[in-house]
Parts: sequence; C-alpha cells; structure tokens
Amino acid sequence: MSVSELFDSSSATSPQPESITIRRPDDWHVHVRDGEMMKAVLPFTVAQFARGIIMPNLTPPVTTVEAAYRERILAALPEGADFTPLMTCYLTDHTDPDEIERGYRDGVWLAAKLYPAGATTNAHFGVTDIPALAPVFERMEKIGMAVLVHGEAVDPEVDIFDREQVFMEESLLPLLKRHPGLKVVIEHATTMETLDIVREHQARAACTITAHHLVINRTSIFQGGLRPHLYCLPVAKREKHRLALRKAATSGDSCFMLGTDTAPHPRRNKQAECCSAGIFSGATALQTYVQVFDEEGALGKFEAFASLNGARFHGLEPNAGTITLVKKPSMALASVPVDGEDVVVFQGGQLLPWSIAAE
Ligand code: NCD
Ligand code: ZN
Repeated sequence: MSVSELFDSSSATSPQPESITIRRPDDWHVHVRDGEMMKAVLPFTVAQFARGIIMPNLTPPVTTVEAAYRERILAALPEGADFTPLMTCYLTDHTDPDEIERGYRDGVWLAAKLYPAGATTNAHFGVTDIPALAPVFERMEKIGMAVLVHGEAVDPEVDIFDREQVFMEESLLPLLKRHPGLKVVIEHATTMETLDIVREHQARAACTITAHHLVINRTSIFQGGLRPHLYCLPVAKREKHRLALRKAATSGDSCFMLGTDTAPHPRRNKQAECCSAGIFSGATALQTYVQVFDEEGALGKFEAFASLNGARFHGLEPNAGTITLVKKPSMALASVPVDGEDVVVFQGGQLLPWSIAAE
C-alpha cells in the first residue's frame, strides 16, 4: 500500500504537521442533484474524490438507458477537474431485465439502486414488491451487476429507529437467500446488526458507511433542541451502533467502503415544518473521515476504506494519483450559496482538526 505517514518532527523551528497521503479516494454514494444545485455542490465532491457513484433519485428518476444525466454532470464539472461520475439505474416495479443488461453492457450503468417505495427522498417511484423483481435480480446475478440497497422498511407503523433492522430481517436476508450470486451493497449502514450481516456475506456483499454516522448518534439530533441539519435517512442510531460503525470502517476489512451519502437540500427545506432528510457533507467528508481514523489510531487503514475496498468490490482499478491530508486545523465553510438560498454544510463553521493539503 502506498500509505505514508509522517509524524510530528521534534524540530522546534519548523514542526511538520502529521499528514497522510493515500491514493485518490472514491465516493461510492453521492447525490449531486441537478441544475443550479448541482453546479453549487459538485465542485466540493470533485475536490475530494476521483469517482463517485451518482444516485439516481431525481424527479423523475433515472430509469432508462440514456446518457443525458451523466452529460449534464460532465458539463457542470469545474474547468480542469478530473472526476468520473459512475451512473446507476433506479429500479421500479416495471424495470425490464433486458434494459438493465443493455445499460450495464454498454457501460452506461455500473449498478442499480433499489429504493423500497417511499423509503426516502424521491423514492416514491421505488419498488413495492421486491420478490416480484426476481427476473431483474436473476439477470443482474448472471451479468455480475451489483444492486445498491437503501435498507429501510417502509411500513409507517415500524418505529423509525428499527426500520433498518426490520428491512434486513424481512427483505434483505431473504433477497440474499433467493439470489445467492447477487452482488449487494447495503447503503449507509447504521446498525451493528447490519454490519454483522455484511461480514457474514462478504464474499458478495459490502456496505458503505457515511462520515456523519461515524460522528453523530441519535441523541445528537436532539442536542439542546431539534437539529434539522443532522436529520437524514437512515436516521442516526444509538451510541453503541456509532461505535460499531467506527470499528468496522477502521478495521480495513474489504467489505466496508466509503460512501458519504452527501444529500444537499436548501436550508428552507431543512428548517421547515416538515424537514427533508439529508445531510450535506460534500465539503467536509474526507476531513471528517480522516479525523475518525486518527482518533481510532487507524490511519494506516484509511486508504483501504477510502480508496481500495470499493474499487475492488466493483471490479475497478484503484485511482492513479494521490491526495494528502494534513493534521492542520481548518475552518469548515458554514454554508454554500445556491440560487439565492443556501445549503448548510455538515460541521460547517467549525474548526476541523484535519485539512486537505493544497496540491
Ligand atoms: C437522501 C436524499 O436526500 O436524496 N437523503 C438522505 O437522508 N440520505 C436520500 C437517501 O439516500 O436516503
Ligand atoms: Zn443517499
């Protein structure tokens, strides 16, 4: 591995801050949106990551083999940016296995995203009957295409903090059983039970872990009052789950990979009577992740989590080039202006102990 760690020099005149250089990382779960929002948030993801799996939950969602959304992303890239958007297809009750295979073979889609209908933002076109989609999963099994799963039960009667666990028991484990060759990524894992399921099936299953779920627990959302900017789906769980997520992410195990789930919403939609789910971590994700690895004494495992495990799972080469993170405090941007409004940044306005080194 090409990890290099330089520790504080004892020189009194010019102390070298601690730093870490890793292969350029990838974000395996990112919402870059569209239009003005995309123009505003994309540069932050591009500054941190070489590739990103672009979530297809637009309105209407991306369900047909066409390159239009990818082209809009490429057109919105800042001048000289080196970033590859990896596209996904949004599964619905009407997805056609032939269309899926065509999009995969033509290189239009890397994977397909499964949203249980109504589970989260723009998921109302999602799948209402997962077993009924067997022909699609059989085809994906055959061609080696991965399904990326938003793993939450949608029954409004189910307690919101139990929705991931109920989905795993009622839907995910049966899906794994019915399709033993299907490659599955459980997105934004939030519970210790989910992590165990991933470990048990790691020959063909993996999960993404967000930066915010490594930092906040469910109490954070209510700290001193209601904190709308810490509300996302799946909602943060108890402290024991946060600790389990930190242990998994920093273990170096190949089934755990970086996925920010950066999900910007205008402030107006967050500080609202009914707050939209989503945390915008695009501007502070890497600084947050590396801080967690540092706190856990696991900087040596950071490259595996951020730059190697996901590429291996998806059968891609790791990126050429490197990025350096320095243990030098930097003030996080408080918010990003978009079209006369703004989007609040996760940990925005705070002094973060780590910074991205200028190239
Ligand atoms: C995401 C969004 O806003 O698109 N929101 C979220 O809370 N994570 C959707 C999602 O990934 O659930
Ligand atoms: Zn998401």
